[in-house]
Amino acid sequence: MRLAGKIALVTGGSLGIGRAIAIRFAREGAMVAISGRGKAALDETAAIIRDQSGEVLAFESDVQHVDQVNALIDGVLHKWGRIDVLVHNAGINAPVPFLEMPLEHWDRHMNVNLRGTFLVSQRVCQEMAKRKLQGSIIFMSSVNGLAAEANLAHYNASKGGMNLLAMTIALELAPLGIRINALCPGFIETRLTKPVIDDAPAIEHYLRSIPMGRVGQPEEIADAALFLASDESRYMTGHCLVVDGGQIVKLS
Ligand SMILES: NC(=O)c1ccc[n+]([C@@H]2O[C@H](COP(=O)([O-])OP(=O)(O)OC[C@H]3O[C@@H](n4cnc5c(N)ncnc54)[C@H](O)[C@@H]3O)[C@@H](O)[C@H]2O)c1
Repeated sequence: MRLAGKIALVTGGSLGIGRAIAIRFAREGAMVAISGRGKAALDETAAIIRDQSGEVLAFESDVQHVDQVNALIDGVLHKWGRIDVLVHNAGINAPVPFLEMPLEHWDRHMNVNLRGTFLVSQRVCQEMAKRKLQGSIIFMSSVNGLAAEANLAHYNASKGGMNLLAMTIALELAPLGIRINALCPGFIETRLTKPVIDDAPAIEHYLRSIPMGRVGQPEEIADAALFLASDESRYMTGHCLVVDGGQIVKLS
């Protein structure tokens, strides 16, 4: 098992990509704490992990709020004493054209996607440093952090910010042995992308942009997250790993 004895926190671990990662990590021997919004989905994911004999803790927690982030991390530390692996995956994405984007909409994306990333990763890194852990941090970024997509100014900017934040933290914490990498998925089938998948012209447009000709599955991102969490990636830090069926390399 590739994560035997490790303690992992997966934010946004109740659904979609985060759920697939939590299940995969537990199968690989990690004790997994999941957080997110909405108790029902958290309970459902925790039940799946327990049914497979995994160890799991579930926390309702909003990554925008420092008190809730601290309560989440205190909760994991209180039960399990340390965090070896953080997958900061919680995120939102609701498209709006730039000229019509209300400030509240911009602020919500920045608060969940970028402020949340700062809050969660800073506290987890502080706890890793205090314990001299050779931890691994993974930010769930996006190909939208590397290239632009129309109607997603807020999302693109927040994911680009996450990539640069990962690189900066990598520089500062490499001497401590803490690694941090960003994972940049393309189009993955989840609740977030369901409106596009259900819209025939929109999904046709997307499929034309993906050389491999299909959308990705959450489990395919979980495989990449497992690699970044494990010792197999021990010489990697500050990297943005693209998993997108070739979408980002296509010029037209
Ligand atoms: N689905 C894709 O195609 C795709 C592509 C690239 C990147 N991503 C990124 O992957 C991550 C997960 O996306 P998904 O498609 O699985 O989405 P999803 O909507 O299925 O799941 C989102 C998860 O984040 C949690 N969450 C949302 N807002 C939160 C908040 N304020 N505080 C705490 N938790 C919160 C939800 O509870 C849920 O667990 C996001 O960061 C997203 O930007 C997704």
